[in-house]
Amino acid sequence: MADAEYHFDTLKIRAAYDPGEHNQAVFPPIYQTAAYEFRDTAHASKLFTFSEQGFLYTRVTNPTVDVLEKRIATLDGGTVGLAVASGMAAITYTLLTLAENSGRILTSTYLYGGSTDAFQKLFLQFGVAFDQSPHIDDAKALERDIKPDNKAIFVETVSNPTGAVVDLEALSALAHKHGIPLVVDNTFAAPYLLNPIKYGADIVVYSATKALNGHGNLITGVIVESGKFPWDNDNFPQMEENIYALRDRATGQECSPLEVFPNAAFVTRIRLRYLNYFSAVLSPFDAYLALVGIETLSERVAKQVSNTQKVIAYLEHSPHVAWVKHPSVKSSPYYRLGQKYLPKGAPGILSFGFKGTVEQSEAFLAALKLWSYHGNVGDARSLIVNSPESTHSELMPEEQKLADIEPNLLRISLRLEGADDLIADLDREFVKVFRAKGAGHAA
Ligand SMILES: Cc1ncc(COP(=O)(O)O)c(C=O)c1O
Repeated sequence: MADAEYHFDTLKIRAAYDPGEHNQAVFPPIYQTAAYEFRDTAHASKLFTFSEQGFLYTRVTNPTVDVLEKRIATLDGGTVGLAVASGMAAITYTLLTLAENSGRILTSTYLYGGSTDAFQKLFLQFGVAFDQSPHIDDAKALERDIKPDNKAIFVETVSNPTGAVVDLEALSALAHKHGIPLVVDNTFAAPYLLNPIKYGADIVVYSATKALNGHGNLITGVIVESGKFPWDNDNFPQMEENIYALRDRATGQECSPLEVFPNAAFVTRIRLRYLNYFSAVLSPFDAYLALVGIETLSERVAKQVSNTQKVIAYLEHSPHVAWVKHPSVKSSPYYRLGQKYLPKGAPGILSFGFKGTVEQSEAFLAALKLWSYHGNVGDARSLIVNSPESTHSELMPEEQKLADIEPNLLRISLRLEGADDLIADLDREFVKVFRAKGAGHAA
C-alpha cells in the first residue's frame, strides 16, 4: 500500500521507512557519519550530479534526517521536506530564498518575538524588507499592503502567544492572485491539528523543537513544500538559475532545480544553496529524537487539547483572571476560524490576563510548584511565563500592543500532566497571593 492510503496515526510511525533497506532495523537507525563510501567512480559521478539518489555528505543529506524529512512531508501532504538545525533556520532559509537581494515579505504583527526581531534587525542587511500589516485578518484590506516587489505572505497559522488563527483560504487566494506563495509557520498546530497545504499554503515551516518533537530535548526546524506553486511565473528568477551540482552527466550542461525537480524545486534550492553553504545542519541524533517524538504526536496533542479545555474552564471562572485568549473560547474573534481550520481542537497554548499587581503576578509565578517557568512551549511539561517580560520582551511597548500582548499577559503551554494537578496548583497559589497583604502598581 502507498503511504497516501494510510491514516495519519499510521503514517506518523511508519511513513518513509522500510526496515528492509536498513539491515531490518525496526526503528530508523542513527547514521552518525559525515560521509558515505562511493561504490566506484561512476557512482561518485552520479551522486555529485544528483543523477542518482543517494548520500554523499551529511551536510546536505543523511539517511536518518531523510526519514524525518519524508515523514513530516507525508504528514503534511507536501511533496518534499527539509530538516534543519532550528525553527529560525527554517524560517530564515525560506524567506531568504524567496526574497534574497531586494524583495519584500508581507507579514503580520502576530508573530513569535524572535521572528519579528530578526525581520526588523537582520534581514535588511540581506536585502529583504518586511511589512508587518495590521490587516492580516482582512484579506481585502491586506491586498492594499501588497507592493510590486512582494515575494511572499508569511504568517503563523495559530499565533504566538495569543492564538490568533489566520484564514488560510483567503490568504492563499490573495497571495496566488499576486503570483506569490503563502508561507506559514505551523509550529503551534503541528500537522496533527492542521495541514495548511490542504487550504492553499505553498510552504510550511516548523519549529519542530515544539509540538512535533514534544519533549523539549532538541532544537529542530523543518520546511515542507507543496509542490504546487508555479515558480516559473517570472517573479522568481532565482528558481530558474542553474546550479553546478545539477549538471547533466553526459553533456556537462548545468540545470536549475525547477528543471530537475519540478515538484521539489524550492526545497532543492535551499538544500543546495543555504543548507550546503550556510549549513544549519541537523545532526542525525537530533533527527532520531524527533522521529521518536513524532511517533506519539496524535496522542500527545489530543491530551493537550483536552487539558487545555479543562484549564480554560477553570480560568474563565476565576476572580483573579481578567480575560482568556484561545481560539476555543466562544468570545474569541478567532472562534469561527478555529472551528473551521482546527476541527480536532486548538493547540494547548493560551494566554490570560492576571487581575492583580505586578508584584502579585511575580509572586504567583514564583510560588507555582508544578508549572515550569521557561520559554519553550513544546515541552512535555506544562509551563507558564510572563511573555511581555520574556519571550516577547524584544518588542517595544507599541509593538506589543500591535501584537495584542497586554502588559498583564501570562502565557500557558498545556502539556501532559494531570489537568486536576495543574489546576490545583494554580488555585492554591492564586488564593495565597491574593490573601497576602500589600499591593504594588497595576500589571
Ligand atoms: C512559532 C514559532 N516559530 C519559530 C520559532 C523558532 O524556533 P526554534 O527555537 O526551533 O529556532 C519559535 C520558537 O519559540 C516559535 O514559537
